[in-house]
Amino acid sequence: GMVRHYKFNIVQKNTTRLCSTKPIVTVNGKFPGPTLYAREDDTVLVKVVNHVQYNVTIHWHGIRQLRTGWADGPAYITQCPIQPGQNYVYNFTVTGQRGTLLWHAHILWLRATVHGAIVVLPKRGVPYPFPTPHREVVVVLGEWWKSDVEAVINAATKSGRASNVSDAHTINGLPGPTPTCPSEEGFKLKVEKGKTYMLRVINAALNEELFFKVAGHQLTVVEVDAVYTKPFNTDTVLIAPGQTTNVLLSAERTSGRYLVTVSTFMDTPIVPIDNVTATATVNYGGTLSSGGAPPLLASKPPPQNATSVATGFMNGLRSLNTRAFPCNVPQAVDHSLLFTVGLGVNPCAACPNGSRVVAAVNNVTFAMPTVALLQAHFFNVSGVFTADFPGQPPARYNYTGPPASMNMQTTTGTKLYRLGYNETVQVVLQDTGIIATESHPVHLHGFNFFVVGSGIGNFDPKKDAVKFNLVDPAERNTVGVPTGGWTAIRFRADNPGVWFLHCHLELHTTWGLKMAFLVDDGKGPNQSLLPPPKDLPAC
Ligand code: C2O
Repeated sequence: GMVRHYKFNIVQKNTTRLCSTKPIVTVNGKFPGPTLYAREDDTVLVKVVNHVQYNVTIHWHGIRQLRTGWADGPAYITQCPIQPGQNYVYNFTVTGQRGTLLWHAHILWLRATVHGAIVVLPKRGVPYPFPTPHREVVVVLGEWWKSDVEAVINAATKSGRASNVSDAHTINGLPGPTPTCPSEEGFKLKVEKGKTYMLRVINAALNEELFFKVAGHQLTVVEVDAVYTKPFNTDTVLIAPGQTTNVLLSAERTSGRYLVTVSTFMDTPIVPIDNVTATATVNYGGTLSSGGAPPLLASKPPPQNATSVATGFMNGLRSLNTRAFPCNVPQAVDHSLLFTVGLGVNPCAACPNGSRVVAAVNNVTFAMPTVALLQAHFFNVSGVFTADFPGQPPARYNYTGPPASMNMQTTTGTKLYRLGYNETVQVVLQDTGIIATESHPVHLHGFNFFVVGSGIGNFDPKKDAVKFNLVDPAERNTVGVPTGGWTAIRFRADNPGVWFLHCHLELHTTWGLKMAFLVDDGKGPNQSLLPPPKDLPAC
């Protein structure tokens, strides 16, 4: 592959949305930030220069970072932050990957405005496994807050309760016309009858799974998280924060405008979801007359609690599984893990209620270290983490049953789960009903995993495991654990390093719904992680 150079200047920029202006942190002054283009097997060098007063890191979400964990980006996991006035060159190779991914800040809540698309094209001359679209369009979904986003999380942290939701969703940075700001224009996609468009849809929102819908058109899903899928027709796409979905849109109409909607999917909200649905339009060319806009066909977005729409979408996804793109789901498992993911309540003397909401995996609320775990591992610094993360919940209980029966308090620690190089792993992610059952889009750094099964209620190893799909399960890097249910994933630990696993709802990550895998059993040459780059930031 070739070498591509990018420069990301982290700068404040006054930006107007919902008819008001505020300074936001951006890359190169853009919201969303610039698209990073590469081809499969290219090497990418991104020089990040920090011109703002916050510490910054950037994560290349879904890029495997084979042996280059130093370039992964989560603050205090693989690197110390880039401090104000400092810079760092992220240097990685996109080995054996092609498709749509995203990059985003991975510290505090900066990714609210510091995010953008990664488009990895196939190797030159290698076609898509579907008819070549006439045009490709990046569609980044996000959120907009009228107030300062860091202030929102600080207030939530102080109160020990949930944060306010954003004020609006955005499509390529634009909410579109809203009741309080009807004059604002939304994103417009101009199409021509008979042509096919590939939309590279990315959910960069902080805290909401989203429904994406185009009135009057079916969408054909062909890829999720930069892995091809069996083509799958749907009128609504479900996309969780951190996920990407490529869809084909055939322009089969002759004229008119068609409303695109982006709305929340949350079946059991713990705070009211009152942010505005983002809208865009698909416009057929040649119909714009001087006498005004052509007619608009709108369709209602699914209700916020449309669980069946969400489940139907997720269950429809399958790996392509052809000779060129086989599905390498591990058939046998070396580590069989059960991770409960959910909320808890811990005492908090300084909080108004005397308690704070926390989140945990297997009852462990992850404590962020003050030096990077990968450095501590590589240089053998003791006292930073322990490698005793529990592979099973501390006790068996009715995970999705009434909260009264559960231990709501969690323990706190910086615990890692150690895996040997190339071992196979199964993790059943089990939602809990402590405080409330909620959906958790869980993201694993450093790997793709196979979603071999999913269900409602408590995972039953006898009944459920026999139904796993070990032929063509969807392969991805982020998966929604259904509300009050479970999802089983499998992966091969073929990438040495320290790899974060966390809920991609930023609120839940902040509360501690995170842990990390340490891949290194000290046995053999394949263990070797490349040495850290010279400009790796220090803490
Ligand atoms: Cu896109 Cu650790 O996240």
